[in-house]
Amino acid sequence: MKIDQVNKLEGTIIVPSDKSITHRAIMLSSLAQGTSYIYNYLNSADCMSTMNAFKSMNVDIIKEDKKLIINGVGLYGLKKPKQNIDAGNSGTTTRLLSGILAGQNFSSNIIGDESLSLRPMKRIIEPLKQMGVNILAKNDNYLPLAINPTGNLKSIDYTSKVASAQVKSCVLFAGLYAEGITKFTEPEKSRDHTERMLKAYGANVVENGLTVSVSKCDKLIAQNIKVPSDISSAAFFMVAGLIVKNSKIIIKEVNINKTRSGIIKVLKDMGANIKIGSITFISGEEVADIEVSSSDLHATTIDSKIMPTLIDEIPIIALCATQADGTTIISGAKELRVKESDRLKVIASQLLKMGADINETEDGLIIKGKTKLSGNIVDSFKDHRIAMMLSIAGLIADGQTTIVDSDCVNISFANFYEVLKNICK
Ligand code: S3P
Repeated sequence: MKIDQVNKLEGTIIVPSDKSITHRAIMLSSLAQGTSYIYNYLNSADCMSTMNAFKSMNVDIIKEDKKLIINGVGLYGLKKPKQNIDAGNSGTTTRLLSGILAGQNFSSNIIGDESLSLRPMKRIIEPLKQMGVNILAKNDNYLPLAINPTGNLKSIDYTSKVASAQVKSCVLFAGLYAEGITKFTEPEKSRDHTERMLKAYGANVVENGLTVSVSKCDKLIAQNIKVPSDISSAAFFMVAGLIVKNSKIIIKEVNINKTRSGIIKVLKDMGANIKIGSITFISGEEVADIEVSSSDLHATTIDSKIMPTLIDEIPIIALCATQADGTTIISGAKELRVKESDRLKVIASQLLKMGADINETEDGLIIKGKTKLSGNIVDSFKDHRIAMMLSIAGLIADGQTTIVDSDCVNISFANFYEVLKNICK
């Protein structure tokens, strides 16, 4: 994709539905009794990996207009898939599904693409083994995974070293099948969509600070879910509206769940002109319109405490910091090294090519602003969030920016370039 510098951005947009919520809605609806309707689901490659996994285990899922109709088979109704389950590029599919597969009476295998095959799975293998599942993995850490349930699952009281909603959700899903009460404690609160949705489908979930517990569950009840827009997709346009001169963008009905909306706090700290409209609830999640306009920004500090609430937004926040006066220090972001790419390395190397003053540290980035960016040939490393961040960088860079492997935006935001084109004035 080639991006030219623009004069201004203007318009009201709708960004795609939330990826995390769509994954969970497909999973819990498949395991529920009755028919669930998932309105406004995210039709992206990652969510289709989850949908296809459940289809391969005999769940009837129909795509109709903008909704999924899922005829749940009950917690014990999945059938052994005939082939390996292909999770594609999706860490969420792999890790959450593993917790569900741990509770089945059949064995199964999960495979994935090149990037997913390099991502660590020990973090879910360890608790699932403690629950009594036999799991084989390459070097005990990587795909392919062979999940062999050995009978009754044992509940555990597990403390995770990483604040990861994927690990938490894996253990909570396995906990639906384990005798007694399964407890999970994390170092910081990660996104809580699983907790909210499990409660809605009728599971017994109790939250106490950084600990969540779930009881063994007899049945989940089908629900109608409307999926709000994804703040992680909105983030690209929030920052675009701030850093492109003479701009004003309104993003409609974005999920601003407080375990996801750290970026709003950070941008406000940086002096952003950002207004949050009145808050409503959609399927148990807080939703509001977000308005941004061009701003004079200054540097900030981001550490491990706030990190889980903006983990996927670091690439676009890093770009924002190149346009803010002063030195922005990002730390506690080691997890970024094991996302769809080594994001710390890729953010630093690609923004450097465009003229940014940016340095990688072991667990973060140091960015000095404000710098003028220049168009160049940059590489997404097949990471959707890097491709979108570099595209926004192209809007303010002198000349033209070429993003190699930009097709990967379809992992979370298939019409990204169309939405962008509509607001370029
Ligand atoms: C996700 C959790 C986060 C996030 C990912 C989606 C989820 O990963 O980066 O894009 O849906 O649970 P971790 O939980 O591994 O941090």
